[in-house]
Amino acid sequence: MSAQQAVAAVVVLAAGQGTRMRSATPKVLHELGGRSMLGHVLAAAGPLGAGTTLVVVGSGREAVEEHLAAVAPGARAVVQAEQLGSGHAARVALDAVPGLEGPVLVVNGDAPLLRVQTLTALAAAHATAGSVFTVLTAEVEDPTGLGRIVRDERGVPRAIVEESDATDAQRAIREVNAGVYVADAGTLRRVLAGLATDNAQGEQYLTDALAPLVEGGAPVAAVRAEDPADVLGCNDRRELAARRRTLNDRVLDDLMRSGVTVVDPATTWVDVTATVAPDALLEPGVQLRGTTAVAAGAVVGPDTTLVDATVEEGASVVRSHVLGAVVGPGASVGPFSYLRPGTSLAADAKVGAFVETKNARVGEGSKVPHLSYVGDATIGRGANIGAATVFVNYDGVAKHSTTIGDEVRIGSDTMLVAPVTVGDGAYTAAGSVITQDVPPGAMGVARAAQRNVAGWVSRRRPGTAAAEAAAAAESRAGGRPAAAGDEDGSAPGADHEQ
Ligand code: UD1
Ligand code: CA
Repeated sequence: MSAQQAVAAVVVLAAGQGTRMRSATPKVLHELGGRSMLGHVLAAAGPLGAGTTLVVVGSGREAVEEHLAAVAPGARAVVQAEQLGSGHAARVALDAVPGLEGPVLVVNGDAPLLRVQTLTALAAAHATAGSVFTVLTAEVEDPTGLGRIVRDERGVPRAIVEESDATDAQRAIREVNAGVYVADAGTLRRVLAGLATDNAQGEQYLTDALAPLVEGGAPVAAVRAEDPADVLGCNDRRELAARRRTLNDRVLDDLMRSGVTVVDPATTWVDVTATVAPDALLEPGVQLRGTTAVAAGAVVGPDTTLVDATVEEGASVVRSHVLGAVVGPGASVGPFSYLRPGTSLAADAKVGAFVETKNARVGEGSKVPHLSYVGDATIGRGANIGAATVFVNYDGVAKHSTTIGDEVRIGSDTMLVAPVTVGDGAYTAAGSVITQDVPPGAMGVARAAQRNVAGWVSRRRPGTAAAEAAAAAESRAGGRPAAAGDEDGSAPGADHEQ
């Protein structure tokens, strides 16, 4: 173990079934605040610098192993074939590293609120006390279901008693076992080998390691966590919701202390992996997930979800859903828009209401104000994409790209059938289906010429309000039809009646 290492190894117990979750997903893979429970435990233990990290897997092991490979490739999975208890699980882990010596952190995989400083303090206390087994504890309001810390008259820890094995007097104790321990590897190996199963659950309890060490006169210690919330486990969905709430409160408290305005903490959810700069403003109903980064002066919300998104300085995103997109400085999005991966808005660009974008680069100051789909597109600077424009990127087999130049004006309801290019400064006429490139400065028109069938309403819809309105207009115009040019064969105004 090197000087920077607080412990030689970390062992995470994650083989239990988690029956109380009533889930097809292994308990430790349930998520809160942007990580799995297991991910939170590994993140808290990581800075201790252990040379070896072992995760005991069993129930749902394939899923847990796959997850580990993705989030903590340096950790090693050790299989506990049968779930014979937490003591057995720790033993299986130590058997996998026979040469290991020094202090080992053993931690339940279902303790997502553990913090680095709590684990560091535990390891330091273990070293300072010269202890061979140090258990993390907490005073809690409601100790139901947790192991109780039994201390003697002098306050020295004597035993950890599981609730189902406790006497009434022991059940009244409010100091509980966190399921987090630092122990000397050799000592732990020895004591775990002698664990019995004469308890209510017939399991080898890791908690039973303490009493025999005390009886043998070995130095042990129990360290109270500063914040009792740290030690709370998570056994069912109600506890999962409660832990998620606590975790979120911590994240928001940190953000507010650092200078972020959070208008409504109760409806704002920020993953531990997201970052928000001071003087950003989060309106009610905001979720910031994954690697999302919000810069200073940006306004997000109300009612906006950002996933792996970047919102740069002074930008705003209102009532929108943004995945894997970059919203540049001063740019604005929403209300009611959907930005999908590969979208990148340059400075001061605008994506307005009811717009979907995907794999789209929108240039500086360019606007897509209303009701459009922009897929596989590159748009230059200062362009305006008229309402209801569709970038027709898919021919049923392959996706194709569209390029729009600088200062282009795309008329409303234009279909841009990719692959197609509209040159700098060009226009398209409203309602055009653009299938060929439009050269710079040209007007692309691709729609049928209009024809008006004069008098059609009075002939075909006589007696309707429309016919009356048309007749009134004609009489105001001096008895002549409002427009000439009958294309259905009859003479202009032939069947017109006053
Ligand atoms: C455990 C402690 C209890 C403590 C509580 C804190 C024991 C016997 N009791 O109770 O004193 O107050 O945590 O939350 O340890 N596991 C395995 N293999 C097994 C059994 C369990 O890997 O065969 C793992 C589980 O996945 C879990 C951890 O060990 O991460 C604890 O097991 P769990 O059943 O959750 O114990 P609790 O009843 O919560
Ligand atoms: Ca538990």
